[in-house]
Amino acid sequence: MYVCRNCGYAAAKWSGKCPNCGEWGTLDESNMPVKKKAGKVLQPVYGADLVKAATIPESKLEKLSTGFTEIDRILGGGIARGAVTLVGGDPGIGKSTLLLQVLAYIASEGHTVAYISGEESLAQLSSRLKRLLSKIPDTLLMGTDTDLESVVGSLSRQKLDFVVIDSIHSLTDANTEGTYGGISQLKMVTSSLTQWAKKNDTGMFLVGQVTKEGYVAGPKNVEHIVDTVMYIERLGDENIRLVRTVKNRFGEVGEVGFLKMAGKGLEDKTDFSRMLVEESAVSLPGGALGITLQGSRPIMVHLQVLTNDTMFAVPRRVVDGISKNKVEVLAAVIAKKLPKLYLDKKDIFIKANGGISLKDPGIDLAIIGAILSSVLNVSFETTVFIGEVGLQGEIKACAGFDARLKEAKKLGFTNIVTYKTVSHISEILEFLKKKVS
Ligand code: TYD
Ligand code: MG
Repeated sequence: MYVCRNCGYAAAKWSGKCPNCGEWGTLDESNMPVKKKAGKVLQPVYGADLVKAATIPESKLEKLSTGFTEIDRILGGGIARGAVTLVGGDPGIGKSTLLLQVLAYIASEGHTVAYISGEESLAQLSSRLKRLLSKIPDTLLMGTDTDLESVVGSLSRQKLDFVVIDSIHSLTDANTEGTYGGISQLKMVTSSLTQWAKKNDTGMFLVGQVTKEGYVAGPKNVEHIVDTVMYIERLGDENIRLVRTVKNRFGEVGEVGFLKMAGKGLEDKTDFSRMLVEESAVSLPGGALGITLQGSRPIMVHLQVLTNDTMFAVPRRVVDGISKNKVEVLAAVIAKKLPKLYLDKKDIFIKANGGISLKDPGIDLAIIGAILSSVLNVSFETTVFIGEVGLQGEIKACAGFDARLKEAKKLGFTNIVTYKTVSHISEILEFLKKKVS
């Protein structure tokens, strides 16, 4: 019998890769026979009475501010009391900084909170706190530990409103088999802490490291255990952080918020939209502005396009940050409806600035605008394109149309091309010629 060190899977035959968790080199020979559980015939025991759903009183979900308007918004109005939130992201992205700031804010509102680190010493944490805050609240407690049982013991010694565990990868459960940071350890640590939080009605933030390589299991493996999952990513500029919810039991998912890493920690970055657009590049031919929707949030994007006569029988469509299928389809629509542009003989290179990946139908018209700008060598610098384009070249409204329109107007744009101004892509040229000249 061979047992995987990582997930505990038992296999009759040895193999290099565990058939269950996919880790390499983790199968060890074991003499322990694997017990097969026989199906048990259940005997009725006295259980709790079931209740009528209609009579269950509604419990009001209390939400607390995190001190960041961007984070409160993506969480649907703040952090729910008693919720367990997983915060994932690359090392050095700012997870510890963000959670120290959030915890200090919650403490300053009079709640008792604790920060448990398995990665940094108390001295390191203290010097970071001093950098972040001018006054450290009295109700902010700190501890460093890497043993799950001992962490739960320390936490249980007082009533806590919120706890940060930094990180779930640094804790181990002595009673669970599996490699340090492996899937079975990670699941045990996360589910034990989540159960503790629920039992004690304590809100909890769990930090999960994302690593592209190495043997550490990613936070994805434990997303199902917690209430809310947030990821922090770097966006465009070195100091800008995008925070995204991918799961939220207490609100919408797919919401994004923007933060900026500054000298004294993270700050809200509410003027997010404009920053994705480089002013200097917008005035050149070969680009167009569009408004995409991330969750319910409209964001301005700058699409850049280069078109060249192709040297191949089938012209190339090279994409960066945009769905390739979408570009292929829209290029085919232009080739059919505007044959004089000879797009079927041109390569298209297209790139979305800002590091956001675009699949959204509402940017169809902006992609077409950017392609036309390149082929015709004209600049549409003050024009924003909003809308979906059908296979017949018809321009349509798109999801969140009003929110996008409002965003474009808020940013000061007055030339806005939508289905209301132009109904078919064959009319865009005439329309834009009037505008450009
Ligand atoms: P950190 O929160 O330690 O990242 P993580 O916990 O996700 O690994 O972030 C550390 C980075 O942030 C580090 O490169 C220094 C930078 N930083 C600032 O720029 N300003 C600050 O005020 C702080 C505390 C950190
Ligand atoms: Mg950290």
